[in-house]
Amino acid sequence: MHTHQVMDLRITKLFFFALLISATKAADPCASLSDGSGVSVIPVYSKCSPFNKPNDDSLVNTVMKMASKDPERLRYLASLVAQKVTSAPIASGQQLFNIANYVVRVKLGTPGQVMFTVLDTGYDAAWVPCSECTGCSNATFSPKTSSTFGTLDCSVPQCSQARGLSCPATGSTPCVFNQSYGGDSSFSGTLVQDSLGLGNDVVPNYAFGCVSAISGGSIPPQGLLGLGRGPLSLPSQSGSLYSGVFSYCLPSFKSYYFSGSLKLGPAGQPKSIRTTPLLRNPHRPSLYYVNLTGISVGRVLVPIAPELLAFDPNTGAGTIIDSGTVVTRFVQPVYTAIRDEFRKQVNGPFSSLGVFDTCFAASSEAVAPPVKLHFTGLDLTLPMENSLIHSSSGPLACLAMAAAPNNVNSVLNIIATLQQQNHRIVFDVTKSVVGIARELCN
Ligand SMILES: *[C@@H]1O[C@H](CO)[C@@H](O)[C@H](O)[C@H]1NC(C)=O
Ligand SMILES: *[C@@H]1O[C@H](CO)[C@@H](O)[C@H](O)[C@H]1NC(C)=O
Ligand SMILES: *[C@@H]1O[C@H](CO)[C@@H](O)[C@H](O)[C@H]1NC(C)=O
Repeated sequence: MHTHQVMDLRITKLFFFALLISATKAADPCASLSDGSGVSVIPVYSKCSPFNKPNDDSLVNTVMKMASKDPERLRYLASLVAQKVTSAPIASGQQLFNIANYVVRVKLGTPGQVMFTVLDTGYDAAWVPCSECTGCSNATFSPKTSSTFGTLDCSVPQCSQARGLSCPATGSTPCVFNQSYGGDSSFSGTLVQDSLGLGNDVVPNYAFGCVSAISGGSIPPQGLLGLGRGPLSLPSQSGSLYSGVFSYCLPSFKSYYFSGSLKLGPAGQPKSIRTTPLLRNPHRPSLYYVNLTGISVGRVLVPIAPELLAFDPNTGAGTIIDSGTVVTRFVQPVYTAIRDEFRKQVNGPFSSLGVFDTCFAASSEAVAPPVKLHFTGLDLTLPMENSLIHSSSGPLACLAMAAAPNNVNSVLNIIATLQQQNHRIVFDVTKSVVGIARELCN
């Protein structure tokens, strides 16, 4: 069967489940998410997420709540690219967990214990709250009941990659870390290894941080699965099993019951897909930089000075694809140029709503021009769902992009998750390309 047929079947199946549950409360639609060999990608606020808290928020409110953490994410990414130190590829713990948009279900240990971890393409390491963790939630990993669990010594290279504390002068000790988080919080633990189960696959001896204590009030409960390009990341640690290839399809922000998928390895990836080269920034090896060469609004190629989009490893300038930011951000002059062209083609008046500064009567939506991103070798026309967001009160539609916040001196353009929904994004670290194709993944 073709993927699409499978998808359609799954959509139909889930749809009926959704209907059923509303009628009878009979089955749990979320239970089916663990079927099959793919790994589900679940919006953290959606029905099937264990971190979901019931709320009556409208879509735009949910998105704005999620996007309220974007400035911190940008500050984190900006701090990464500003650093020129190559020996410490791990970020300061400062904004570490503040990116909880999508979670994936993994199994740790033998037998496998189910954990939901945050998907992060801007970060390498994995971190999980372990049992008897002081201050963690009760959804923890229990090393004692795993037959494949092992500790790692402070002398192993992974320990310095994870910013572990250095070894004492004599004797060997486990790799211990203690990192600060926000102004008032910190977390500590040890770097350990165990089997990581993803769908039907098992990655043996996966190195990850086993968090044993958190202090302060601002550390959310999820573990973290780093999908960056550095040595501690999943693509690196899984080696020949996945050949450095993975893809994800993020479900629509409008979906509540649905999930997307994480596909690991070259098998099952789209056969014909347009790709653009990944650019390597030696100062910031985790990030997936691409060459964004221009932006069109409708038929107009927006006039933007090439140097505003140019990749520069020394300053960190350029464009990244990120799973931890919600709303796509451009450096101020680039956003202003896009927005001005968009406004020219749509009937005003325009108002602001949260981070969005170009909202207009939804009745004018028919004339709203599509936004097209031009990358080297790949043009991506954003479906309306990915370029406009609706407010229920109004009714208003808003251009769903923004400039970098004023207080973040960012040189980065970030292609974020609102703009990625219902596309398959295929990262091939070995061939150093990323492919993007439309896919209705939920
Ligand atoms: C965590 O605690 C809640 C309520 O305190 C309980 O319902 C849930 O089953 C617990 N989860 C685990 C994994 O122990
Ligand atoms: C980390 O170290 C600091 C300073 O020694 C300490 O105050 C804090 O409690 C530690 N954090 C954790 C979570 O153990
Ligand atoms: C990005 O694309 C532009 C336009 O084609 C080209 O001039 C530039 O060299 C490319 N940059 C990189 C780093 O490949």
